[in-house]
Amino acid sequence: MSRKRFVAVRGEDCLHCGFCEDYIDCPRDESGCIGCGACVKGCPQGSRHLVLRASPSTEIRCTVNGKSFSATDGLSVREFLNGLGDQSGGWSARNGVKHGTFCGTGGCWSCAVLIDGVLARSCVTPLRQGMDIVTEGEALSQTESRRNVTIMRPHPHRHPTIFVHGCNFQCGSCHNWDMTFASRGRALTPSQAVSLLRLDPQQDYWVGISGGEPTLNRPWLLEAVREIRKTCEDMRIQLDTNASLLEADYIDELIRAGITDISPDIKAFYLESFMALSGISEKDSARLYLDTAWNAVRYLYQAYRGRVFTAVSLPYYPRIHSPREMEETARVLAEIDPEMPVTLIEYQPAFRSRNWSFIAPEEMENARRILESSGLRRIVVQGGPELPLAVDPLELALGSEDF
Ligand code: SF4
Ligand code: SF4
Ligand code: FES
Repeated sequence: MSRKRFVAVRGEDCLHCGFCEDYIDCPRDESGCIGCGACVKGCPQGSRHLVLRASPSTEIRCTVNGKSFSATDGLSVREFLNGLGDQSGGWSARNGVKHGTFCGTGGCWSCAVLIDGVLARSCVTPLRQGMDIVTEGEALSQTESRRNVTIMRPHPHRHPTIFVHGCNFQCGSCHNWDMTFASRGRALTPSQAVSLLRLDPQQDYWVGISGGEPTLNRPWLLEAVREIRKTCEDMRIQLDTNASLLEADYIDELIRAGITDISPDIKAFYLESFMALSGISEKDSARLYLDTAWNAVRYLYQAYRGRVFTAVSLPYYPRIHSPREMEETARVLAEIDPEMPVTLIEYQPAFRSRNWSFIAPEEMENARRILESSGLRRIVVQGGPELPLAVDPLELALGSEDF
């Protein structure tokens, strides 16, 4: 295993917003930073960086699935397991998920393994002397999954919603960045999360699952959907997703569990635009994510048209999406189904793109016309003053919602 170790440093442009101290479950202790990168991904200023640190010296001995291993200190359990060739992680491995299932920021719990008998996030847990790590088998599969979530139940203004933390993308203009990258607080099992929604079959008829990316941590999501369905038989259950992991078998499983509405967020048609928006810099992963998302829309219309309400979201920013790209996007969607409901979403300045300008209403209208003239018939524009602004790093108080 490589002896290279990293530590995070703060740049001079730090805003002192406190996000890396108060919202991220930083595993640093008396032995220092383990270079897990959670604070680097979550810093809204892009001010934190990983730098090489002096070579480690202490030898750590631990067991993985009953076999003994050793490593030098200063790394996370996940990095250690990756070094042993385990790329998939506990929960993901159990479900045969093949790619990109990690947030790496402590929110999704996809990487959870048993450490000394307790479920723990391997990405933000330092490797320690004598740890007993279990990444597969019955003991792990019998343990209930967990996830960091924010429950929103401001009824009657909006539908009750579970916002899950953790995402496999790193969009520079993430609108929900303060939840997506946050990892502090008690992680909940699906039944705990659903019980906090306090669903009332007399008045609730729609529940949202949003994020973050809900499709990370598949067992958690499926169980949460089943729990909601058990609580309210007739409830509409909507999934907001970047669709990058939504392969056909996953869609089938979600629908069997009780999902009734799916909103795939298709970020782009061209790979370059997709990479610019999603922050995925590795070309092969970006290609796979983008293709999976487009194929998910095709599959939903081919296999579930009329049975699952599928409204595609198209985030729009003219600096990224050219008129030609909007045309291509609409043409391909219209080939799938010209009656497909499409929400054209104004991309607002947020997170690391706070200095971007707002899009003028005429530009949104132009984009809408392009979609329409390329064959789509049911377009809703979401933007303007009714769209709530993203949290500014300097105003991190979570607002006035009744959480
Ligand atoms: S998260 Fe906020 S406090 Fe932390 S380094 Fe970034 S700007 Fe500074
Ligand atoms: S979150 Fe990870 S990388 Fe950042 S300071 Fe803590 S241990 Fe270091
Ligand atoms: S990958 Fe560790 S919590 Fe998401």
